[in-house]
Amino acid sequence: MTYYYVTTPIYYVNDAPHLGHAYTTVAADVLARWHRRRGEDVWFLTGTDEHSQKILRTAEANGVPPQEWADRLVEESWKPLWAHLAISHDDFIRTTERRHTDRVQEFVQDLYDKGEIYKGGYEGPYCVYCEEYKLPGELIEAEDGSGTPLCAIHRRPVELLKEENYFFKLSEYGDRLLAHYDAHPDFIQPASARNEVVNFVRQGLQDLSISRSTFDWGVKVPWDESHVIYVWVDALLNYATAVGYNENPEKFEATFPADVHLVGKDILRFHAVIWPAMLMANGLPLPGRIAANGWLLVGGEKMSKSNLTGISPETLTAHFGVDAYRWYFLRAIAFGQDGSFSWEDFTARYTSELANGYGNLASRVTAMTARYFEGSLPAPGEETEAERSLKSALLRAASEADHRIGDQLDFQGGILAVFDFVRQVNGYLTDQEPWKVAKSDSPGARTRLATILYTAADSLRAIAILLEPVMPETSERLWDSLGASTSLGPLSDQQVRDASAWGALPPGSPVTKGAVLFPRLDDRTDS
Ligand code: ME8
Ligand code: MG
Repeated sequence: MTYYYVTTPIYYVNDAPHLGHAYTTVAADVLARWHRRRGEDVWFLTGTDEHSQKILRTAEANGVPPQEWADRLVEESWKPLWAHLAISHDDFIRTTERRHTDRVQEFVQDLYDKGEIYKGGYEGPYCVYCEEYKLPGELIEAEDGSGTPLCAIHRRPVELLKEENYFFKLSEYGDRLLAHYDAHPDFIQPASARNEVVNFVRQGLQDLSISRSTFDWGVKVPWDESHVIYVWVDALLNYATAVGYNENPEKFEATFPADVHLVGKDILRFHAVIWPAMLMANGLPLPGRIAANGWLLVGGEKMSKSNLTGISPETLTAHFGVDAYRWYFLRAIAFGQDGSFSWEDFTARYTSELANGYGNLASRVTAMTARYFEGSLPAPGEETEAERSLKSALLRAASEADHRIGDQLDFQGGILAVFDFVRQVNGYLTDQEPWKVAKSDSPGARTRLATILYTAADSLRAIAILLEPVMPETSERLWDSLGASTSLGPLSDQQVRDASAWGALPPGSPVTKGAVLFPRLDDRTDS
């Protein structure tokens, strides 16, 4: 057995999650769910990154030991948010767990034994928020005229750090990395991110300092306990330790390496340069793809804990609902590009696409079936050109969505393909006017009405399957109100390929007018 293995970054626990973290995690969840809908065995991993000076400092500032701080954040903020957002991860790894720290020590010891690590000195500007030494080109000057060098990403002062550290011979891996990028054009996504990494590696890599001795909140270097392992080496290894590296060979074989590491573009280099080099150095296989999402912006600025522009995901789910929230960011922003959040845009799309589009279609069809056929789905009569054209539209939408979401991680393109079909089914009803056919006493009218409502209901069956990865709870409700849970069984048993199997919803399915899928938005007083 082999798993389709998807990961999110493991997030720092120095603060509560914000929209940016949820963005990457929801995208990974949709991808994982999509592959489950293809009938694949999926392993979906998320977790938290709990070491580093940054977390130590935050804990100290709050007057608690770092482990207690991490425990609190994980239990009170991170895990509850993922449960709230219906994130379907199979495992949640924390870097302070023994199953991780023991294996990290073994991995690093192996590299040391192989001569990949040496002791040396380094002095340079360091950004604690990036947890990274900066090159001169990555600094900007403070605008207050003081000339203080700032990290260009965080706009915070860098610290001059001088350390005797252990170094990994990263500089020796440039050519092999470039050869790998060349042989695997899809290794880094999107193309703009790929070019940036290729240019960076072409300039020549420096060896990487992989230990710290100025603080001790980390995994101890096994051969020199006065050092802790650099947090990025520690963190990247979660993708291996969580699936049985050096512990459970069967699980490891079946899972590792990841098919897709989803990351934000801020941490692309760690994943596309350092991580593969670490794996090469230890003779392990490389992941299939590193896919970087762009920045979520609010008022033109990257949302982050450091600049405090975060809006909590719960604020938005309270107003729009969880499923609309999951849908919105993937629908509105092309994955890989930056995108801005605004209440106005979310409100407009919710109203036109979810409430008036999808929701209205579902309520019209279920209400008319309940009314004209006493809630028992009628068998269709002979089909006409209108039904045939809807069928081919469904085939196109399903295969387009499958390819775009499942293969290309083009969530927006996939969602648009399904919503285009929603629009066509709504158009079909408008054209066929079942409410008029219902009043006609011409012979054949009753059969025609049955055909129209059957066709629309079976279309909704397909839509529920195709949108499950994005809006799981809504799809479940629609599935129930179509009577499909009774006549076809649980939605979770349905596969993408079943979606376009026209005529799958059995006549006689008990259709009920369920609750409105996307209720009207309450007036908002908080902005
Ligand atoms: O970097 N827009 O953790 P982190 C889009 N622990 N995505 C955003 C975002 C925004 N404004 N802000 C954050 C770390 N993200 C390390 C990772 S992995 C081995 C270790 C998302 O808590 C995006 O995925 O700073 C980004 O890469 C990640 O959160 C950074 O989370
Ligand atoms: Mg960060």
